[in-house]
Amino acid sequence: MVNPFFNKDVISIRDFSRSDLDYLFLKSDAIQILPVEEKKKLAFGKLLGLTFFEPSTRTRLSFEAAMLSIGGDVISITEPRTSSVEKGENLHDTLKTVDSYVDLMVIRHRMEGAARFAAEVADNPVINGGSGAEEHPTQAMLDIYTILKERGSLSNLKVALVGDLKYGRTVYSLLYGLSLYNTEFALISPPELKIRDDAFLDIDSKIRISYHKNLEEVIDHVDVVYATRIQKERFPDPVEYEKVKGSYLIDNLLLSKAKKGLLVMHPLPRTSEISHEVDSTPNAKYFLQTRYGKIVRSALISSILNE
Ligand code: NCD
Repeated sequence: MVNPFFNKDVISIRDFSRSDLDYLFLKSDAIQILPVEEKKKLAFGKLLGLTFFEPSTRTRLSFEAAMLSIGGDVISITEPRTSSVEKGENLHDTLKTVDSYVDLMVIRHRMEGAARFAAEVADNPVINGGSGAEEHPTQAMLDIYTILKERGSLSNLKVALVGDLKYGRTVYSLLYGLSLYNTEFALISPPELKIRDDAFLDIDSKIRISYHKNLEEVIDHVDVVYATRIQKERFPDPVEYEKVKGSYLIDNLLLSKAKKGLLVMHPLPRTSEISHEVDSTPNAKYFLQTRYGKIVRSALISSILNE
């Protein structure tokens, strides 16, 4: 099988086809059963650069853990205040510098378009680790892999997307990614946080969408509830945030009405969207997502680095 990721940038999940994603998922299955000494050869002698201009726990650490698990090394800018960015160095020069040291770079930035810009500046491949409210493609890859593993299949899938559908970049990547699998979506958000119309530009014909006021309306027939944090930092006006914060709560009472085998997912961090009592139910998959994230990212890095 030809490796569709070799030497490629990963900026938008829209740049990939269903067979590309299926390739990555097979690779993710395979990497888990490799003996450690074989695994360590996949990125031996290679260096990953992490350039994070926005806070991160999971994405940064899972890329780091993924690279180390396949034998590579990692360098990072995780606190721009300790780099020359603080002295006024522009993004172009910072990226050019990191690119001259590494074989592959991950960038996270508050600006839409920043990852695409990094890919233009860098000679080596660039992975988008979150670009403003635009996209977070590797989150969608691990989300879809989680659904595949925990549900067993991606066919006839019904997904409820709930929370901040306007600013949540993981929502957009997931929507684009799952549009390749004929998914049905139920969208639930306050009117102020409705999904942006441009989301449907090239996927309109591939998905079915319905809008709902609350999760109760759909909880008995969806296979996945994907909750997101209200993205406080992306609100132009804090008063607007105050109006919508705490709009949704997933708790055990709600889950008692759910379809059997419902997966409750969240890219994390959560604030108040999912009650902690849900954590110990078999429906809770958000900490499993973090596990799968490391695996999918190690498969992705290895596919980019090796033909
Ligand atoms: C998300 C992000 O940064 O977009 N987190 C993540 O990468 N898992 C979600 C969020 O910040 O709410």
